[in-house]
Amino acid sequence: MAEIEKVGVLGCGLMGHGITQVAAQAGYEVVVREVDEAPLAKGIGKIEKQLARAVEKGKATQEDADAVRSRIQGTVDYGDLADCDLVLEAITEDLGLKLEMWAAVDAVAKPEAFFATNTSSLAVIEQAASTSRPERFLGLHFFNPVQVMKLLEVVRCVTTSPEALEVGLEFGRRLGKLTVQTNDKAGFIVNRLLVPYMLDAIRAYEEGVGSITEIDEGMKGGAAHPMGPLALLDLIGLDTIGAVCDALYDEFRERRFARPPTLRKMLAAGWYGRKSGIGFYDYSGETPVENPGLR
Ligand code: 3HC
Repeated sequence: MAEIEKVGVLGCGLMGHGITQVAAQAGYEVVVREVDEAPLAKGIGKIEKQLARAVEKGKATQEDADAVRSRIQGTVDYGDLADCDLVLEAITEDLGLKLEMWAAVDAVAKPEAFFATNTSSLAVIEQAASTSRPERFLGLHFFNPVQVMKLLEVVRCVTTSPEALEVGLEFGRRLGKLTVQTNDKAGFIVNRLLVPYMLDAIRAYEEGVGSITEIDEGMKGGAAHPMGPLALLDLIGLDTIGAVCDALYDEFRERRFARPPTLRKMLAAGWYGRKSGIGFYDYSGETPVENPGLR
């Protein structure tokens, strides 16, 4: 099987910075590419903060943290991905942007490199088929926060070779993730089940079943979820969820995947959740409070 030593990550946002960190922690050399210096610095800054926190907590030595940091190279230049063995994309959930990006990466990456998408909901084959190496293309779907969540969905699309699949499974194992293999069907396993649940929580809120806090506390206390569905939506990002809803609705044409009106309004208002400081909760104070605008 092909040996992976150097990993390229496209995007250093919510998912990309986490993937970069866990890959560097697992001993890979990582090149992370962003469109601009500002988001790159922001993402790498988050990684540095996490590494410093691990040292403070006694979970890592300063030498370990320094070694992890030294394995991460940030760039805004696709050319720096030329010698990566595996290139993984974690950019915005927009097929057009992803295809544009793959065209640029495909032109510079070495022919034997494997490509993977962290898409939450788009068909992997649509991206694979746009490259010169559809047999070396697969889905590697991480969960937020990547540093904490155990699961990695390893997605085989119709063109993925057994070798590429094995590369994905081995990569996940080396990151210490629980790998679950799934086929290339929109939403894979987890989002297929999780997204309708979260959308139903929005509908329950719209119907006055409970307040934001009551719905979240209900699911924490009554179903032992680590966080309630509305807080989880804020964590994932409502813009991402909007894109995921659209892809799932497009695939299945079922109401359970359609954007509820409240989600539409929140997106129009620019309330994307934690990343914008306000979603179902307002994060501007010491502790989050229900977004007063939703009352
Ligand atoms: N980045 C890195 N580390 C984080 C983190 C973050 N954003 N958030 C929390 N952590 C770490 C903390 O540092 C802490 O580490 P430690 O044990 O070494 O001290 C540990 O996680 C626990 O954190 P906290 O004590 O602060 O908080 P909680 O115990 O409440 O855990 C949580 C926070 C891990 C976010 C937990 O609430 C949880 O598991 N929530 C559910 C998350 C979930 O369902 N994610 C999946 C979303 S779906 C998805 O991503 C798919 C996509 O396609 C849409």
